[in-house]
Amino acid sequence: MRRIYLDYAATTPVDPEVVKAMSSFFTDTFGNPSATYSYGQEAKEAIEEARVKVSELIGAEVDEIVFTSGGTESDNFALVGVAYANQARGNHIITTPVEHHAVTETCKYLEERGFRITYVPVDEHGLVDPSDVKKAIMDDTILISVMHANNEVGTIEPIAEIGKIAKEREIYFHTDAVQTVGHLPVDVDELGADLLSLSAHKFYGPKGIGALYIRRGIEIAAFMHGGEQERRLRAGTENVPGIVGLGQAIEIARQEMQSEAKRLTPLRDKLIMGILEGIDHTRLNGHPSMRLPNNVNISFGSLEGESIVLNLDLEGICASTGSACSSASLEPSHVLTAMGLSSERVYGSVRLSLGKWTSEEMIERVIEVLPVIVQKLRAVSPRTHGNRQ
Ligand SMILES: Cc1ncc(COP(=O)(O)O)c(C=O)c1O
Repeated sequence: MRRIYLDYAATTPVDPEVVKAMSSFFTDTFGNPSATYSYGQEAKEAIEEARVKVSELIGAEVDEIVFTSGGTESDNFALVGVAYANQARGNHIITTPVEHHAVTETCKYLEERGFRITYVPVDEHGLVDPSDVKKAIMDDTILISVMHANNEVGTIEPIAEIGKIAKEREIYFHTDAVQTVGHLPVDVDELGADLLSLSAHKFYGPKGIGALYIRRGIEIAAFMHGGEQERRLRAGTENVPGIVGLGQAIEIARQEMQSEAKRLTPLRDKLIMGILEGIDHTRLNGHPSMRLPNNVNISFGSLEGESIVLNLDLEGICASTGSACSSASLEPSHVLTAMGLSSERVYGSVRLSLGKWTSEEMIERVIEVLPVIVQKLRAVSPRTHGNRQ
């Protein structure tokens, strides 16, 4: 059976060109970048080349990029680092209830340590209203953190408007751009971001490597203590192959992301329409137009998303319910819940996310297989005769 992978929002396969670029840094140029001999210096140069590539892609200066172990670390670093370094100015942080757990759990951690967190609401599409962010600002607000695009429903937030508000009020602004960097144009000045998180495995790079953009002059506490790497902000011997892989993935994304977004958008829409028109009692979750070119999130009335995902798997199709980290638990999605959807719609949701190796033929196969699965499951579902929407 040919596998159809439709969970690119959870992670992507590594591009063979990326693997090729990384491989010599495991065995040949393996020296410690802090060493003064040439093996070390060559590794150091490769790190700095990758740093240039990252900075150019997001319109940053080279010394504003700090390599981390990925999106989770970048989010933790941004929030904890700013909170700890700016306590004298205030202890209030503004965020949203639809952020990735890397942000919401860090906020909970900070709340236990005396910080106050305001969660501005989102509408039924998961969209934040910038005027709500403005209203939430207090005299002691030190940080606003709003994600660029949501990983579950694909909604793209009005980041530039929020960035403008933050700048007017001289408040630091962080955006989690893990789902957009490498897929959509991201420019830190246009977005008004002071801090921005990105992660390589979301755009055909390796897992366990990412970066945090930190605007020059931002007061931030070091995240790891030890050696002098990453300007003493993030100590520890660098993940050289990972950093090289991130750089190569950035290089490829620069060339391909525009044409990929153009190719994926009609495929996404074909899948959405195929499901909505082909299966009764289905609803699209997330914004109808302001959404990622690769995200499809649908609720199936009277069914559990989990059972649909299991049945798709039997057909060789990989999909997910909610985000990757919560899909193994039976907790309802905090994103869909914050959007005010009924519990039937929350539990009946499935995410299908497209990518570089998704073809039209694969989409057609999903549109063919899904109605059969849904019909079979509904025939035996105790909820079928209950409250449908
Ligand atoms: C929006 C968002 N932020 C953060 C993360 C965490 O990134 P990583 O897996 O690199 O730690 C993810 C990954 O699912 C994500 O989608």
